[in-house]
Amino acid sequence: MFNDFELSADRPVYQQIKDYIRGLILRGALRGGERLPATRELAGLLGVSRGSVIAAFEALEDDGFAYTVKGQGTYVALDLADRANDRGEAAWTTDWSGRLSRYAVSARELDLMKRGIRAGKEVISFTSIAPDERLFGMNEVKRAFLDRMALEGEVLLNYGYAKGYRPLIRYLLGYMARKGVDTANQDLLITSGFTEGFDIVLSAIDRKEGAILCENPTHHTAIKNMKLHGFDIEGITMEDDGLSLEALEETLARRRFDCAYLVPSYHNPTGIVMSSHKRNEAMRLLGRHGVPVIEDGFNEELRYSGAHVAPLAAVAGSGNGVVYIGSFSKILFPGIRVGWVLGDRALIDTLESVKRARSIHTSTLDQSLLYQYLATGNLDKYLRKARAEYRRKYEWTLDCCREFIPYSRLTGDGGLHLFLTFPDGFGTRKLLEATLARGVIFTPGDQFFTDGGGGNTLRLGFSRVDDERIREGIRIIGEEAARLLGGT
Ligand SMILES: Cc1ncc(COP(=O)(O)O)c(C=O)c1O
Repeated sequence: MFNDFELSADRPVYQQIKDYIRGLILRGALRGGERLPATRELAGLLGVSRGSVIAAFEALEDDGFAYTVKGQGTYVALDLADRANDRGEAAWTTDWSGRLSRYAVSARELDLMKRGIRAGKEVISFTSIAPDERLFGMNEVKRAFLDRMALEGEVLLNYGYAKGYRPLIRYLLGYMARKGVDTANQDLLITSGFTEGFDIVLSAIDRKEGAILCENPTHHTAIKNMKLHGFDIEGITMEDDGLSLEALEETLARRRFDCAYLVPSYHNPTGIVMSSHKRNEAMRLLGRHGVPVIEDGFNEELRYSGAHVAPLAAVAGSGNGVVYIGSFSKILFPGIRVGWVLGDRALIDTLESVKRARSIHTSTLDQSLLYQYLATGNLDKYLRKARAEYRRKYEWTLDCCREFIPYSRLTGDGGLHLFLTFPDGFGTRKLLEATLARGVIFTPGDQFFTDGGGGNTLRLGFSRVDDERIREGIRIIGEEAARLLGGT
C-alpha cells in the first residue's frame, strides 16, 4: 500500500494526499478503526513533506473520514470503512435502457450532435454557424465582469429571481422597444438561450389540436423540440422572400393549429428574410385563424444590406398574438446562455412559474455580466466590427459559390450561412461522402425539412472558416458536385 501514489503539479500536495487516502478508504483498502501510518513515516513513503501529511490528516478529519486519538494516532472512521467493505447486496444493477421514458428515447434518437462527423483540425468544416470567437474582444468582457462584481459582489452568487436579473430585464425591454415593439402590456422572462425559452413556451401551450405550423425547412433543434413536445409539425414552403402565403392560406383553411413557429429574419437554414409585405399578410392570416406566433429573432442584427425589417412582434402593434424569443447566441456569445421571452404580461407570469419549476433561474453571473457589457455600450461597437467582418466573409463565400458550385438555387440574405439547392434527384449526402474523402464537410439540408424532403440541399456555415480554406473547401465541393452531376 501507498506505493501507487502519484503527485501532479496542478493541485496542493495535501489535497492530493487526502484524496488518495480517501480513495483507499472508499474502496475498502483501509478498514474502519485501522491506524494510519505516523505522519513522519507516511511522508517518507509518499515522498512528501510531513507538514503536507499533517494537513491531509486534518482535512480527512474535517470531512469525517478519520479521527485522532490524542497521544496514539489517526484512525480510519469506522462507519465509512464498514460501508465500503459491506457493499454485497447493495451493489445491485439494473437495466437503465428498459427504464427510459419515451421523451428520453426520442431525445436520443433526434440528437444529431451525437451522430455528427467528428472532424479533425485539418478538415475544412462548414457545419458550424457559431460566431467566430476571435472577434469577441476579451478586454471588454473581463472589464464588465470585474466592474459588476465590484458593484454587487456576493449578491450575484446567491439565488436570484426566476424571471431574471432585473437590470437586464429593463435593458431588454428597452432594446425590444427600440425594435419598434409595443411593450406596454408585455413582460419579459430571461431564459438559458433561445432553446430553453422555446422549450418553456412549448410546454406551456395546451395541445388542443396537437399541431404546430412552421417554415419548411426550419431550425433542426426547433423541429426536435416540437416533436419532443408531441406536436404534429406542418411545414410551409419557403420562397425567396419568406414563406409562401398561398401555402399558408391553404394550410390554415385545411387544418387547425395550436401555434406557429416562425424565423422571419435570416432564417435557419435558408438565410431568407421575410419581406415586410409578407410579415403583414402572414400576421393577418394567422390572426384570422386564431393561431398565435412564436417568433424566433435569433439573427436579426446580422443584416449586411437592405433596410431594417420590423419583427413580427412589432407588426403585431398593441396585439398580444406574438411571443418573441430572443438570443445573443449569434450576435454575441453563445457560451453565456442568456435568451429572453417577450410576450403577453399574464402569459409571462405563468412562464415564470414554469421556469422556476425547471431551473429556478438562469445563472445570475451570466446575466449580470451580459448586462454590464450591454449597458456600457459595448454591443454597438462589437456589432459594427462583427458585421463588417461577417459581411466581408459572406460576400467572399458567395463569390466562391458562384465561381465553383453548380447549384440551381442559392439563398442567404445575411447571417452566418448560405443555403444551396441542387437539381431534383441530386443527393447532398452522397456529395458529403465524396467531399469528406477530400477533407471537406458541410451540413446536408434534409435534416432541416419537416416532410422528409431537402435531399438535394445543403447549408454552408462560413463564420469560423478562414478565407483561404473557404475558397479551397468550396472548390472541392464544386468539383465533386460537378462530377456527381455528370459534368467535368
Ligand atoms: C433558428 C435559431 N434560433 C435560435 C438559435 C440560438 O439558440 P440558443 O440561444 O439556444 O443558442 C439558433 C442557433 O443556431 C438558431 O439557428
